[in-house]
Amino acid sequence: MELHIACIGGDGIGPEIIAEAKKVLAKVCEKYQHTIEYDDILMGGASIDVYGVPLTDETIQIAKSADAVLMGSIGGDTNTSPWYQLEPGLRPEAGLLKIRKELNLFANLRPAVLFPQLAGACPLKEEISNAGFDMLIMRELTGGLYFGERYTTVENGIAKAVDTLTYTEEEIRRIAIKAFEIARVRRKKVTSVDKANVLDSSRLWRKVVNEVAKDYPDVALEHMLVDNCAMQLVKDPAQFDVILTENMFGDILSDEASMVTGSIGMLASASMNDTKFGLYEPSHGSAPDIAGKNIANPIATILSAAMMLKYSFGMEEESKAIETAIHKVLSEGYRTADIMSQDKKKVSCSEMGTLVAERI
Ligand code: IPM
Ligand code: MG
Repeated sequence: MELHIACIGGDGIGPEIIAEAKKVLAKVCEKYQHTIEYDDILMGGASIDVYGVPLTDETIQIAKSADAVLMGSIGGDTNTSPWYQLEPGLRPEAGLLKIRKELNLFANLRPAVLFPQLAGACPLKEEISNAGFDMLIMRELTGGLYFGERYTTVENGIAKAVDTLTYTEEEIRRIAIKAFEIARVRRKKVTSVDKANVLDSSRLWRKVVNEVAKDYPDVALEHMLVDNCAMQLVKDPAQFDVILTENMFGDILSDEASMVTGSIGMLASASMNDTKFGLYEPSHGSAPDIAGKNIANPIATILSAAMMLKYSFGMEEESKAIETAIHKVLSEGYRTADIMSQDKKKVSCSEMGTLVAERI
């Protein structure tokens, strides 16, 4: 098969971790006889430096014409980077929000898995981490507070800022369907998270999710308020299979879920539209403080490439081969600095990429 991938190295550690994902993909293609072609494109700060904007229309076109987009990370140090002197719409993150909207990537899949080899890194009590956990957060990505009307005015000398949270039933239905579909091939449970005791948008969310659930009698559905969910994630993360939630709640809960795995450097994500097209990126950010030092953990990006093979190209076996290679490398005791512990072998970003590639 021929894979045509638009590739965004981005900012900070982005280019380093993408290089390792490419290394592993090259090995997969060699082994399974696929060919791969990249369009390397700019987004975020890297694009601002060249074009003055975080994402050009030409770049969007290139991304649209590819089969999938593989991304490192974007953004810089918000306190020191000159990118953050620009108005909000011209900052690196605006590029990410624009590509999500332009490519209609409404479904954001964020798995949070406790790797048995890294259970020691889990900050929770042993009696909780011993149970292990493997959840997937299905975050709505193109609606809600992120894309509602917003403005700042001054009324009678007093500044006022407004952000609006809007969802249509169609937007809720399509993400709910994604959640139930994926729950079907997992452990058949959906926890829909909202704030229905306060918000109208959440009450509509709950109603539509209940309707969708009727088509999936084999999947158990429960509703949970977002504040309770934040608590349950640290109290008993093993209870969750698929968490379905709106954009802002998903942003916050997915950071919390990744933290309880103890290794945000290990977590992949996919942002999909209604077809097989997706944008794949690690769940972590651009870590500008360690950029260029060859010490970042490339595993989340490599796992994102594995998700890409599975979801955009239907390559279950190739995807599994990457996951298995990563498990081997971890079992052999190799660790990047972020997941390093006593008696383990510390390796650099590029060494980790090579180790994984060698085990494909
Ligand atoms: C994420 C990030 C983004 C978001 C930022 C960079 C705009 O935090 O992907 O979770 O809030 O969606
Ligand atoms: Mg976030």
